[in-house]
Amino acid sequence: MRNGTTDGQGTGACAVRHIAIIMDGNGRWAEARGLERIKGHESGVESVRAVTRHAAKLGLEQLTLFAFSTENWKRPEHEVACLMELLERYLVDERDELMESSIRLRSIGRTEHLPDAVRDALHATETLTADNGGMTLCLALNYGSRTELADAARKLAADGAAGRIDLEAMTPEDVERALGERLYQPGMPPLDLLVRTAGEQRLSNFLLWQMSYGEFHVSPVEWPEFREPDLDRAVEDYASRTRSFGGLLQAR
Ligand code: IPE
Ligand code: IPE
Ligand code: MG
Repeated sequence: MRNGTTDGQGTGACAVRHIAIIMDGNGRWAEARGLERIKGHESGVESVRAVTRHAAKLGLEQLTLFAFSTENWKRPEHEVACLMELLERYLVDERDELMESSIRLRSIGRTEHLPDAVRDALHATETLTADNGGMTLCLALNYGSRTELADAARKLAADGAAGRIDLEAMTPEDVERALGERLYQPGMPPLDLLVRTAGEQRLSNFLLWQMSYGEFHVSPVEWPEFREPDLDRAVEDYASRTRSFGGLLQAR
């Protein structure tokens, strides 16, 4: 396979381990059918189920889904409230299937600012699935990459002020590692592929740090219609890429 080269992580792996998805186009999908935007979000839950199942079958180590951004609070109150209800219901309804498939549910984001009912459902599902040894399904909830980096910088500064680390003595590489260890999911597998649906070509404040060398796949399909073959297409696209991480493919 063409992308099996030095990957900067010492693995040389060409297999895709970690895919993240910006699930976009729910509103457009609903509006095009004369439906309320929230119907698009409801239909999107079925895509989450299908794609999660398929990702686990493909042997992914982690699937990270952007479910609610720090900027999404700007949406009308009714839409935000419906999204929160959907989220809570999903987190409860999904428990059996997550346990059957041995999937571990995790989250990244400022989850402490979610409504109590969502936070409690999230905490309970994370606890229930904590020992599952299969794929990790990570939900980005109230997630913003700039906030994540600001939070990590704050933790780093606090550890410096408390004398737990000596920032002055640290090399730039040490600081980079220390910051990475203070992100919302320390030890997150390197992000191989970011998929965005509905044809948009933006990061929208998602995984800025983690995408440093990630590959990007844009799908024209709106999220409520995104299914297994669309994920397969993204993985095939990824397999055709050449990843050299700033180096050269072959020593000359
Ligand atoms: C993505 O679909 C879902 C969330 C952001 C929660 P959108 O709601 O952004 O759909 P469009 O972009 O308006 O079509
Ligand atoms: C990104 O989609 C956020 C999620 C998918 C949760 P948006 O629809 O909110 O992003 P913009 O506004 O088009 O950049
Ligand atoms: Mg959108």
